[in-house]
Amino acid sequence: MKRENVNEQSKIRNPKSKICLINGDGVGQEVIPAAAEVLGALGLGLEFVEAQAGFEYFEQSGNAIPDATLAAVEACGVALFGATSSPSTFVKGYRSPILALRKAFDLYANLRPVQSLPGKFSRPRLNLLIVRENTEGLYAGRERLEDDTAIAERVITRAGSTRIVKMAFEQARKRSAISGQPSMVTIVHKANVLKVTDGLFRECALQVAKDYPEIAVREMLVDAMAMRLVRDPENFDVIVTTNLFGDILSDEASALIGGLGVAPSANIGEQAAVFEPVHGSAPDIAGQGVANPIGAILSAAMLLDHRGQGGQADRVRRAVDEIVKQGVLPRDLGGTATTKEVTRAVVTNL
Ligand code: NAI
Ligand code: MG
Repeated sequence: MKRENVNEQSKIRNPKSKICLINGDGVGQEVIPAAAEVLGALGLGLEFVEAQAGFEYFEQSGNAIPDATLAAVEACGVALFGATSSPSTFVKGYRSPILALRKAFDLYANLRPVQSLPGKFSRPRLNLLIVRENTEGLYAGRERLEDDTAIAERVITRAGSTRIVKMAFEQARKRSAISGQPSMVTIVHKANVLKVTDGLFRECALQVAKDYPEIAVREMLVDAMAMRLVRDPENFDVIVTTNLFGDILSDEASALIGGLGVAPSANIGEQAAVFEPVHGSAPDIAGQGVANPIGAILSAAMLLDHRGQGGQADRVRRAVDEIVKQGVLPRDLGGTATTKEVTRAVVTNL
C-alpha cells in the first residue's frame, strides 16, 4: 500500500533546520533518541536542541515544563516529544507538559494516522486519519467539586469546531490529491444526547463541509463509530471529532495496526507543531531497552511532512515497512528485537 504524507506543506517552515527534542519520562527517553538517530541518518543537516519536561524533571526542579523548554519549541517551530508520566491524583504544582504545550502554542489539531503495516500483527488495507480537536471539549480543564458532586464542563466553541473541521477537510483534499481517489470525511459526535455542545460541533462541521463539495461527508455517533472501527475500519478515510472522543477512538484504532507502540501523531498550530508517539511513558517496560520506537520514528516522519520534506518522510516510512517485512520486531509486536536493534535496522534500510 502507498503510504502517504498526511501533512505535507508547500514550503519548509523552519529554514534553520532545528528540531527540539523533549524526551520526557519513561520510554520517552528511549524512543526519542531512536527517532532522532533516524532523522540524523537522513543526512539533512538537521540540528537537535534538547529540552526538559516531565515528572522526573518536576521532582528535581519543581517545574514540569520550564520556560526554557517553551522558548526552545518556539525557536525551533517543531518538536519531537516522547511522553511524560502524569499522576492520576492531584500533585501541587504539576501540570501535564503535553497539555501545557498544546495550550501555550494553541496546537489545536491532533492528527493521528492509522496505516496498515506489512506484518501479521496489523490489519491490512487501513489508511485512515483521525483528526482530533486538541484544545477544548472535556480537556478544557474546568473541573470542580461541589460537596459530593464532581462537575466537568465540556467546552465546545464555534471557532474551535470550525477550525478543526476545516483542518480535516484540508487533510482529506491532500489525501485525495496524493491517492487519486475520492476522499470522505466522517463527522463523529454524540449530538443526540449532548444536544447543545455536540449540536454546535455538528452544525459547524456541516457548515464547513459545504465549502468542500468534492469531498463526501457522513455523520456517525461516537458509540457506533467505536463499533465500526472494529468491524470495518477499511471503509473510513478521515474522521473528525472532539477532544475526548478522538483520544479514545485513536487508541482503539492503534490496536488495529499493532498497538500503541506503532502509532504516531502530530499536534499542529499556526506557530508551532509538536510530534509525538500516541503512547505514554510505559513505566511497566521503561529502562529495559525493549520499547518499540516505531511510533516515535513515524512521528518524526510526520515532522518531515510538516517541514515540506515529504520525500524524506516516505523514505522513513518505507524503511519501517522493510524492517517489518524482514521480521525485525520489538517485543510488543511479537519479536525479540531491542529498541536499539529496531532503530539500527531502520537506519540500515533508509
Ligand atoms: P502507556 O501508553 O504508557 O502504556 C500502555 C501499554 O502500552 C503498556 O502496557 C505499555 O507497556 C505499552 N506501551 C506503550 N508504549 C509502548 C512502546 N513504545 N513499546 C512497547 N509497549 C508500549 O499508557 P498508560 O500505562 O496508561 O500510562 C502510563 C503513563 O503515561 C501515565 O503516567 C500517563 O499519564 C502517561 N501518558 C502520557 C502521555 C503523554 O505524555 N502524551 C499519553 C498517555 C499516557
Ligand atoms: Mg491517549
